Amino acid sequence: HKHIIGIKDLTPEELTFILDTSISFKEINRRDIKKVPTLRGKTIINLFFEASTRTRTSFEIAGKRLSADTINISASGSSVVKGETLEDTAKNIEAMNPDAIVMRHNASGACEYLAKRLDCAIINAGDGMHEHPSQALLDAYTIREAKGKIEGLTVAIIGDITHSRVVRSNIYCLTKLGAKVRVAGPGTMLPPGIERLGCEAYKNIDDAIKGSDVVMMLRIQRERQGAPLIPSVREYSKFFGLTHARMKLAKEDAIVMHPGPINRGVELPTSIADGPQNVILDQVENGVAVRMALLYLACGGEKLQD
Ligand code: CP
Repeated sequence: HKHIIGIKDLTPEELTFILDTSISFKEINRRDIKKVPTLRGKTIINLFFEASTRTRTSFEIAGKRLSADTINISASGSSVVKGETLEDTAKNIEAMNPDAIVMRHNASGACEYLAKRLDCAIINAGDGMHEHPSQALLDAYTIREAKGKIEGLTVAIIGDITHSRVVRSNIYCLTKLGAKVRVAGPGTMLPPGIERLGCEAYKNIDDAIKGSDVVMMLRIQRERQGAPLIPSVREYSKFFGLTHARMKLAKEDAIVMHPGPINRGVELPTSIADGPQNVILDQVENGVAVRMALLYLACGGEKLQD
């Protein structure tokens, strides 16, 4: 079985292979084919210890479109609330013989912890502040689709860099595929040494956006912040929110991305979130195709028929 824990572990060739595999699944979705037999007889468990709309739903739809049996477990409805540990929960689920467990957890490293202890494939659907590999892959897919390439592009990622697993996976993914990545955020949300991951760090959003091909806005992760929030939401919005004037600093054909959920009026206004440069719902649509590819590769599905 092939675990998918983080983009850091994958080579540029493996990333390109996943993106290329996703193309045929996008075509299936585009042709409105709601079921193919690729993973018939496979069982996939979505184990979510944190809230999710996009990731959980699209992994479930991806599994169902591939004819796998998909089961959703959320922490609040499970025996976790009675004090069962992560390892006990996972081992009990594994005893029911699933082929893959897709897990989201608030602890960084939780997926790797399980991958070392379980035999079935583990797919990371977001672990704490560590990685969100399927998000980075759907982002890369969306950029490649919109721009025709990734190599040579400049991608500005703006927001709460410290607490974002999306940014970490995107830095690994986009730099491995040949893009230049800039990150920007307030000093309180910009971890020292982030450049060691291969990006450039900016405390001024305008400098990060200038000349970029892609502007990716992130949400402030209030659930991972202490109180009071520094800077305040109002200050954040003023100094780090996207505006039409700031978008003029980017290339004329730049695209605007956001992993969701959006805090409208904080990191970007509705006029940009829904504006002509946004590809935000393309990201969501591509998420289904990319997750179909990940499930197919992790579960060792048979080769696709043309
Ligand atoms: N982008 C993302 O992970 O969204 P959800 O938290 O809704 O899954």
